[in-house]
Amino acid sequence: MKKLQEKLQEAKKMIESRCAVSKGAVALTLGSGLGNFAERVENPIVIDTKEIPHFPTPSVAGHHGELIFGTVKSKPIVLLKGRVHLYEGRDADEVTFYVRLLHLLGVKSLILTNAAGGVNPLFEAGDLCLIVDVINLMFVPNPDLPMLQAAHEPLFDKGLQQVAKECARKCGIHFKEGVYAGVLGPSYETRAEIRMLQTLRADLVGMSTVLEATTAKRLCMKVLGISLVTNKAAGLSDDILSHDDVQRVAQRAQKEFSTLIEEIVSRL
Ligand code: HPA
Repeated sequence: MKKLQEKLQEAKKMIESRCAVSKGAVALTLGSGLGNFAERVENPIVIDTKEIPHFPTPSVAGHHGELIFGTVKSKPIVLLKGRVHLYEGRDADEVTFYVRLLHLLGVKSLILTNAAGGVNPLFEAGDLCLIVDVINLMFVPNPDLPMLQAAHEPLFDKGLQQVAKECARKCGIHFKEGVYAGVLGPSYETRAEIRMLQTLRADLVGMSTVLEATTAKRLCMKVLGISLVTNKAAGLSDDILSHDDVQRVAQRAQKEFSTLIEEIVSRL
């Protein structure tokens, strides 16, 4: 079996045969339902991730992965649409493959976005939230974690967080702040689990982001995390949660989300 480093080199070679990647480009991972941001990319070069050797592609029917290279407000950017999740049966190396690849391509900053449930009772569907820290409840081996703990450094970059907050203020967007609990999924939580997450002082719950952020930080990239609250977590509203509702709220919040991200990218 090929080693991870070999696989990464083959993937890198393929991408470099298709486009020139600007050193220092910002990367942006688009969360569930937030794919429309891709329309804002100027002069896009779109690569279907199925064409990239060893690149894990989503197994959910109708979803496909794309890496999009281009500029936003004249800043070089790489977008990932269609990340893979642990609940699809992928392991930590597969979930973080793209982060390592972007690092090899010279990316220095990574903006991770996701759809999340609001565990904090004050959070409403449609809120945008800066992720200040994470609680890893994914229970998978993650070799990048011990090194990080030894460094005593925050996972998310303070400078990028400051920029994000200023941009939100400028755009008139009410921006919450919270701790993101990463769970395995794929089912949404029980009421008891949400009470547990509240006891742990989590504000958000979702099924992505934690491993990607950890790996990026380990590779000395600057990381920013932003959640779109697509629903109140189980038990905090009378509604029964469905993937369709999550998608619908994301659709409605797309414009505000895109405005904020565009402003952040323009300032980097
Ligand atoms: N729980 C977990 N993941 C999610 C949720 C949720 O309520 N909403 C969107 N992603």
